[in-house]
Amino acid sequence: MKKIAILTSGGDAPGMNAAIRAITRTAINSGLEVMGIKRGYSGLINGEIFPMDKEYVADIIQKGGTVLMTARCLEFKQEEVRKRAVKILKAYGIDALIVIGGDGSFMGAKLLSDLGVMTVGIPGTIDNDLAYTDYTIGFDTALNTAVEAINKIKDTSTSHERVSVVEVMGRNCGDIALYAGISGAAEAILLPELEFDKNALYRTILDGKSQGRMHNLVVLAEGIGGAIELAKEIEEVTGIETRATILGHIQRGGSPSGSDRVLASKLGAKAVEVLLEGKTSRVIGIRENKMVDDDIDEALAVERKFDQKLYDIAVVLSK
Ligand code: ADP
Ligand code: F6P
Repeated sequence: MKKIAILTSGGDAPGMNAAIRAITRTAINSGLEVMGIKRGYSGLINGEIFPMDKEYVADIIQKGGTVLMTARCLEFKQEEVRKRAVKILKAYGIDALIVIGGDGSFMGAKLLSDLGVMTVGIPGTIDNDLAYTDYTIGFDTALNTAVEAINKIKDTSTSHERVSVVEVMGRNCGDIALYAGISGAAEAILLPELEFDKNALYRTILDGKSQGRMHNLVVLAEGIGGAIELAKEIEEVTGIETRATILGHIQRGGSPSGSDRVLASKLGAKAVEVLLEGKTSRVIGIRENKMVDDDIDEALAVERKFDQKLYDIAVVLSK
């Protein structure tokens, strides 16, 4: 193996640049050539491929987003399109591809490896929805952004003795909501992994009011959604003024946290090591603070386990 390429795919996540830097520097320092592919699989099939050097990745570790840009490329689900991609990689003399993204991006990488390309995936998504790894790049930064926003919302909510409903991202995964809810001392955390009892929520809010609580914070995962409607219903049923805030894409941007930079650096370095060992169709992750590499199919088949214990702690602490 002489030449590898990197692409970022799916939703961007803070820390992707730190991973790009780690891959590039580890590979070049191991004697490999590195190519960058712009705009994910879409750039691959359009031949948006260029040589990367150590200079290209200087001064990017602190930047949010991805310098390689990202895209969603639905055509990549077609086999003939992927076969075209393989020809393009061959034409550039690229022996292996490192894909930074979520499960969809990993599926694309797996299908490319079925066509003979060496591939390795690195988990990059704010959602933390890949079960084989304890954490994904970007989750910690998104969590901290959500917590900072919640702190600010609580200031105004307390001053007006209101209820605040804050909707956070995460697609079908409640991790951002659960972690942000516990960090922001929420009175209620509503997650797609759990049944949601509206009457219990109203009772919590009314009990809090009768005990002299100045505000109520409800953190709602996007996987449930409907923050604006829920705020209206809470106001109607409890008689307490309620406001909804949907944090949205603010959670995807910003300078990555120290933890995300370290995680991305470790995952990037490990991805190159795995390729140098001659392995393919692998994904890198972190479990119990140790770097792991797993077969892509096996990793994608791991069922997500909900952290019931953490949720139970949040409930006890909110009382
Ligand atoms: P994420 O990687 O964050 O889960 P997506 O699910 O949007 O994001 O997937 C990103 C890209 O990966 C898609 O736009 C497509 O190019 C590729 N991809 C997703 N699913 C598949 C699939 N089943 N086969 C081939 N490529 C796929
Ligand atoms: O997967 C990351 C994520 O930000 C999810 O939390 C959210 O559901 C989705 O992407 C939003 O996608 P888009 O940027 O395409 O609106």
